[in-house]
Amino acid sequence: MSEQSVPRRRIKTLVLAVLFGLFAALTAITAYVELAPAIAQTEGRVPGGTLGTTSDAELWRQVRRGVTGTVSIPDQKAATLVQSEGDNWRAWRNGPIYTVGAAAFWTIFLVVFGFYMLRGKVRIQHGKSGRTILRFNGVERFAHWLAAGSFIVLAVTGVNMLYGKHLLMPVIGKEAFAALTELGKLTHNYVGFAFMLGLVMIFVLWVKDNFWDRYDWGWIKKGGGLLFETEHPRAGKFNFGQKTVFWMVIGGGLVLSGTGLNLLFPFQWATLSQMQWLQAIHGTASQVMCMLMIAHIYIGSIGMEDAIHSMTSGRVDENWAREHHAAWFDEVKAKEAEARRQAPAAAPGAPAE
Ligand code: HEM
Repeated sequence: MSEQSVPRRRIKTLVLAVLFGLFAALTAITAYVELAPAIAQTEGRVPGGTLGTTSDAELWRQVRRGVTGTVSIPDQKAATLVQSEGDNWRAWRNGPIYTVGAAAFWTIFLVVFGFYMLRGKVRIQHGKSGRTILRFNGVERFAHWLAAGSFIVLAVTGVNMLYGKHLLMPVIGKEAFAALTELGKLTHNYVGFAFMLGLVMIFVLWVKDNFWDRYDWGWIKKGGGLLFETEHPRAGKFNFGQKTVFWMVIGGGLVLSGTGLNLLFPFQWATLSQMQWLQAIHGTASQVMCMLMIAHIYIGSIGMEDAIHSMTSGRVDENWAREHHAAWFDEVKAKEAEARRQAPAAAPGAPAE
C-alpha cells in the first residue's frame, strides 16, 4: 500500500459519509413536504375543506363517488364534476413517484460513486496494444447517439416537469421557470419521436447479438469480473450485463413510447382513469430508465478505460477487445483471416496491401 493511500482513503470515506448524510436528509425532507398534503387529499374528505350540513355532506359524497350529470357541450367528461381517482393519481404523482424517485436518484449516484471508490476505473489489464479494431460502424453509432441524445433531452425536460417546481423555480424565479418549462414540455413532445426512431434502429441492428449464449452463465458466475481485478469472463459482442441493458432499454423504451403517445394524444385510445394510470406508469418507468442510464453512462465513459471510443470513432484497442469481448474478438479476427485467404483468389493480380 502506498504512503498516500491512507489519507486518500480517509478523504474518500469522509466524502461518502457526507453524501450519504445529504441523501438521508433530502429524502426525509421531500417525504415530509410532499407526502403530507397528498395523504390529506385521500380518505374521502370533502374537497376544499367545506364543512357543510348533513345534506351537503351527502351531496358531496355523491359527487365524490363520481356521480354523473348531463351536459350539452361536446365534452361528455365534463358531466362528472369530481373524478375522485384524480385524487389518488395526484397522491401517487406527488407522493411515491416523487419521493421514491428522488431517493432512487440519490441511491444510484451513491452506488455509482461507491463502485468508483471500491473498484476505480476499469483499466485495460495488459495495457494498450496500439492496434485498433472496428467495434461499431457509422450506422450503429448514429442509432446509439440518436437514442442517447434524445433520451438525455427527454430525461432533463421530464425531470424538470416532476422536480423543477421545487428545485429550479426557487433558483430562477416563477416567470423564468414557467417559460423554460413550457419550452421544455414542447421539446419533450417532439423529441419523443427521435427517441422512438433510435429505439427501433438499436433493436434492428443489435437484437441478433443480444440473445442468451454459452458465455453468459460464466459471466454471471464471475459477476462480469467487474468487482475484482480478475480476468474478465469470455463474452461475445455483448456480455450478459450489456444484454440486460439492451433488453431493459427496449422494454422500458416500449413502455415509455406507448404511455407517452397516449399522453400526447389524450383520450384518443384511453379513458380518463386509464390516462391517470398511463401517466403514473410513464413517470415510474422513466425514472427506472434514468437509474439504468446513469449507471450505463458511467461505465461507458469515465468508469472504463477506452470504452467510449467504441461509440466515438467506433474503434477500440485490440487488448480492450480481447479482454472484454474475447469470443467476439476471435470471431472478427477469424473472419478477417478468412477474407485475406480468399482475397488473392478472387482478384488475381491485384496489388498486395
Ligand atoms: C452520454 C451518454 C452515453 C454514453 C457515454 C454511452 C456510451 C456507450 C458505450 C461506450 C457503449 C458501447 C459499449 C461497448 O463497446 O461494449 C454503449 C452501448 C449501448 N448504449 Fe450507451 N451511452 C450513453 C447513453 C445511452 C442511452 C441514453 C441509451 C438508451 C436510451 C444507451 C443505450 C445503449 C445500448 C442499448 C447499448 C448496447 C448495450 C451496452 O453496451 O450496454 N446509451 N453506450
